[in-house]
Amino acid sequence: MQQVLFKKPNEPPMVFHLFPLIGSTITYGMDPPTFFDKNRKKYGDVFTFILLGKKTTVYVGPKGNDFILNGKIKDVCAEEIYTVLTTPVFGKDVVYDCPNSKLMEQKKFMKIALTTEAFRSYVPIISDEVTSYFKRTPDFKGQSGVVNICPKMAQITIFTASHALQGKDIRDQFDEKLADLYHDLDMGFSPINFMLHWAPLPWNNRRDHAQRTVAKIYMDTIKRRRANPETEAQDMMFHLMNSSYKNGVQVPDHEISHMMIALLMAGQHSSSSTSAWIMLRLASRPDIMEDLYQEQIHALGKDLPPLTYEDLAKLPLNQAIVKETLRLHAPIHSIMRAVKSPMPVPGTKYVIPTDHVLLAAPGVSATDSQYFPEPDLWEPHRWEPDHPLTPSIVRNPLNEEDDEKIDYGYGLVSKGAGSPYLPFGAGRHRCIGEQFANVQLQTIVAEVVRLFKFRNVDGSDKVIGTDYASLFSRPLEPANIYWERRN
Ligand code: HEM
Repeated sequence: MQQVLFKKPNEPPMVFHLFPLIGSTITYGMDPPTFFDKNRKKYGDVFTFILLGKKTTVYVGPKGNDFILNGKIKDVCAEEIYTVLTTPVFGKDVVYDCPNSKLMEQKKFMKIALTTEAFRSYVPIISDEVTSYFKRTPDFKGQSGVVNICPKMAQITIFTASHALQGKDIRDQFDEKLADLYHDLDMGFSPINFMLHWAPLPWNNRRDHAQRTVAKIYMDTIKRRRANPETEAQDMMFHLMNSSYKNGVQVPDHEISHMMIALLMAGQHSSSSTSAWIMLRLASRPDIMEDLYQEQIHALGKDLPPLTYEDLAKLPLNQAIVKETLRLHAPIHSIMRAVKSPMPVPGTKYVIPTDHVLLAAPGVSATDSQYFPEPDLWEPHRWEPDHPLTPSIVRNPLNEEDDEKIDYGYGLVSKGAGSPYLPFGAGRHRCIGEQFANVQLQTIVAEVVRLFKFRNVDGSDKVIGTDYASLFSRPLEPANIYWERRN
């Protein structure tokens, strides 16, 4: 009764809760997708719940994704939500610790290093990292064994990303001190830090020490490179060192250093969670792992030559594995924005006031039977054009209006409005790492398939549950799989 009285007539329905401050924090936090589904059935696509004392309005479905992710800069703001977590981890003056227009320029600089030519050079680097990892790691000695796959994929992700994006010098330091320092940085991303980011707690002290130390490692590298320009590789750091803002100011060294941290951190959780899910899904469907192996034999020849960037395009099932895994296991389940001016929801009587936070959950439409037949089934073959489970977005590609392209300052991006499948987001904050992540994940999968056969330890087709305790969802651990070396 009380909740009905406190809700203004043009605000969306409020999810029932007993305690005003806690609200639905616990039920949401334990399993966000189930929370969204349950309340969508009860209240419709737009509803409000209390998250840590804050009125949080969810708008699910393609219209909701568009409303929030393509919201105008005068209406919605990401930095107000995320800066408390990201600034102590990345450092000052980058990403959310600067005006949005500056972030758009920074995204443009970072994108310059993510070209087809760069990807061509990354595939052999990633391949070598993967094969040498499996050769030297004790858990993969012998012909077969059981392993918790999550920490292994986290290591492979950081080795491949740091080597490809930041060069061999930096990669080599991950065998020594950088892995521990990045681990300490990571602690800054625990959800509790939305409230306690400022507190002099042990994990925050370690985070701050790690930030200063890692930033210094990059700053020293920049200095060394400036002193020896002739030996410079044309990598991400090179491009950032040669970039200037529209006002003519060259990107300062401390910002380059902080962007290097941001780039590696942005991709680490999403890519390592996705690769772990892929391995777990393959263990639950050894038949698909075999299909992948046969696909490589047919497309590349039975000697399986070293992989190239061009080869990846010849492996549609290998690509579909990544696509289908991101459909069911998108690591970012909730994307939030502060509301800066009252926002009427088109076609409804609702107006979202400025004391609400908006929450987009693209995973809801990616698992909606309206778009994806048998939505809960992991079936990579559904991305083939004439499979019975082919999603309607593949059968009826988005019309031109829906697929509108827009430039927010970092190159043309698809607005994504109308698409029920947005694992990389949409709008001005859309991911710039999508192509890199695809190249990285597809190369890892192709190499793993050449080396191993996987199955579940008990031989079943079961799949482990999801851990939602941190900002990025990932498999619950231990996530054990049985591996067997391919002869
Ligand atoms: C933004 C997903 C990998 C860099 C985003 C967003 C999503 C996303 C959903 C939008 C966030 C928002 O709207 O608030 C993913 C997934 C990945 C992945 C699923 C892998 C499977 C990467 C990688 C990099 C990267 C490898 C770097 C090389 C970024 C950056 C942003 C971003 C810089 C922009 C943040 C902003 O503008 O606010 N990503 N990402 N991502 N991602 Fe990724």
